[in-house]
Formats: sequence, structure tokens, C-alpha cells
Amino acid sequence: MEKLVNPRVKDIQISGIRKISNLVAQYKGAITLTIGQPDFPTPEHIMHAAERAIAEQRTTYTPNAGLPELRQAIAGFVQSKYGLSYSAADEIIVTTGASEALDITLRTILTEGSEVIIPGPIYPGYEPLVRLCGGVPVYVDTRESGFKLTAELLAPHLTEKTRCIILCYPSNPTGRVLTEREQQELAQLLDGRELFVISDEIYSELIYDAPHRSFAALPGMRDKTIVINGLSKSHSMTGWRIGYTLAPAYLSQHMVKVHQYNVTCASSISQYAAIEALTAGIDDAEPMKQEYRKRRDYVYDRLTGMGFELVKPEGAFYLFPSIERFGLSSMQFTMRLLEEQKVAVVPGDAFSSYGEGYIRLSYAYGMDVLETGMERLESFVKSLG
Ligand SMILES: Cc1ncc(COP(=O)(O)O)c(C=O)c1O
Repeated sequence: MEKLVNPRVKDIQISGIRKISNLVAQYKGAITLTIGQPDFPTPEHIMHAAERAIAEQRTTYTPNAGLPELRQAIAGFVQSKYGLSYSAADEIIVTTGASEALDITLRTILTEGSEVIIPGPIYPGYEPLVRLCGGVPVYVDTRESGFKLTAELLAPHLTEKTRCIILCYPSNPTGRVLTEREQQELAQLLDGRELFVISDEIYSELIYDAPHRSFAALPGMRDKTIVINGLSKSHSMTGWRIGYTLAPAYLSQHMVKVHQYNVTCASSISQYAAIEALTAGIDDAEPMKQEYRKRRDYVYDRLTGMGFELVKPEGAFYLFPSIERFGLSSMQFTMRLLEEQKVAVVPGDAFSSYGEGYIRLSYAYGMDVLETGMERLESFVKSLG
């Protein structure tokens, strides 16, 4: 009977990040630097808002696009933080995490054979969704441009079939951020073309030295851009499953139908918590960011001290050093590091074939874990000679 399963579903794989993090349980005493899950608790005032929602039995379905007060809070948040102007009435959809936001967006805009440009290495959540829609992922190798999609790299990949370009800055897995100039050059190239841009800005609150500039704020881009964001990383709320889309009304009116038949609405309790997060807690990410910055600097210094080649990331909470000089594949390096020193990292090839030759370390872990991790990694590197 399995032969009856949709071949597109059969062909997609469980993400390499999950595979490794599931494996760690089998190694006693192993420490993990794998998952992009903030290690801070959700701020208490947000928890209380959820408790109040439960106590007051605000536990029913909400409007499909989300509670009007939450959409208003999102509109206010992105206006004050990023200068974006979106109507709470018809340009914002509250989703079940950024993951669902990506899914409803891609299902709304892709048809059979639509080409989707994906700069690699990149977060592994996009390609399977593209394939499930019958779309064709077209990877652009960004290894020579410091993991940035530049206009120069993008131009030769644009065809009549290009339906969409995915941008993920700050980047998972590299932590890189585009400069204003790089963004402008991309916008100039794309202005006037009939295609969409999905700008996944889930790490927008975790940029260390400059304010976040949304791609939708660039000249000519608002009308073709769908901004993906959410509270998972900014408010340490991965399990609450609250994401959102910002998209012009002509697109949102269609996306909300896919969302309706998919999940009806995001969890009501989480939505009430999100109102609190995006009103009373607009700067909740700040203390976490200061801590992440210290960790980034620490791990970066340790890695460069061990001789790893890597760029210092401007955002998110990942480092993506090259392991090429060791002559091992990223999977071999990862498995040996786990077996010999009991440290789990993610092999770079989990982020498309363009990630081969790298590993990803997440520093969303306490300093004690990072210190032990670095000690063990150093012993491993020495043992490789
Ligand atoms: C770049 C990127 N986009 C989207 C997501 C999914 O976010 P959520 O947990 O809100 O679904 C993640 C999670 O790690 C991510 O790194």
C-alpha cells in the first residue's frame, strides 16, 4: 500500500537538524549545539497573559486571520520597529509559527513548474514545501559572497518561470545580514519584474550592531514581498507556535483561504499571549540579544583560536565555520565529533549541498554548555592533527 503514497511526500526527508538532535539521546553525556531554540524562558508577563486567557475561557476559535487586537499589535510592532505600514484589517495573517506562514505563502503563489530561487546554504524548511507544491528549487551558490545573495549572483538565475525568490536574513545557518546597499541592488534588479519575494525575517530582533531593515521597506518591493516573521525567536516562544505574514491585501486575501483550510486559526491562548508580547513586551528580545552577543563573541574567538575559518555573523544565533581543511565530509566530521567527544553539531549539508564543507553551531545555549562544547571541540581538532 505504501506505493500509493504521494511520491512528492515520499521523496522529502526529515530535516538533517532533527536527525542529529534525535541521535544525541543515544550518546550518554553528549552535549548538543544543534537546535535553534532560545534557551531563555518565555518572559513571565507573557505567560501570565496566557494564564489569564485560560482562566477567562478565551479558548474558542478566533477569526481565521487572527484576533483583531493581535493583528493591530503586529501592525504597531512592525511600524515602530521597522517602519513598515500594514493594515491590520487585510494585510496581516496570524499563523501557526513561521513554518505555517511559509507553507501558506508558497501554496498561494506556486503552480506546477514554478521556479523558486533559494540562496544556499539555507534553512532546510523551504525546499520540501516548494517541492510539495510542484515547484522547482533553483539554488544559488553564495559561498563565494560571504553567504549573501547579491544582485550579481541572482541575475543569471532569473527566468520567465521564476515565481519567487526566498531571502532569509539574518540567515539561518550563517547569521549573515545584507547591507543596505546589497538590499538596494537586489531591489533595483527585481523592481518591475513579475515575481514575488518571500523575506523570512524571523531573526529580525536578533541583529547585533544595526537595526533590522525589512526587505519590504525597499523602493518597489512592498507590492511583491511577503514578509514572514513570528515570536519563536524574538520572545523565546517556539512552542507557542505564533508566526505571521505581512503581505499586500491582493495576496493576503488568497493566503488566508489556504490558512483557513489548513488550521482554521492559530491557538487562541497563544494569540492572547502574543498580544502581550507585542505590546508590553516589544523590547523583550533586548536582554536576550545582549547575552547572545557575548556568546557569539566567545564562540567565535574560540573557533578562530582553533584555526577555523569563519565570518563573524551579524545576527541570529548560529556560527558556520568551514571544516574543509580536515578532509572529512560534514557528516563524517559531525559523527566523529559526536562519537569521540560527545558534542553534537549540525553537518553543513543539512542546509543544502552548498553547506557541504561546513558545520553549524547554535549558541542558543548557556555559557557552561558552550565552554564545555569548545573544550571538547578543541580536543577533537587536535586529535585530527
Ligand atoms: C529561518 C527560519 N524560518 C522559519 C523557522 C520556523 O519558525 P517557527 O518555529 O516560528 O515555525 C525557523 C526555525 O528555526 C527558521 O530558522
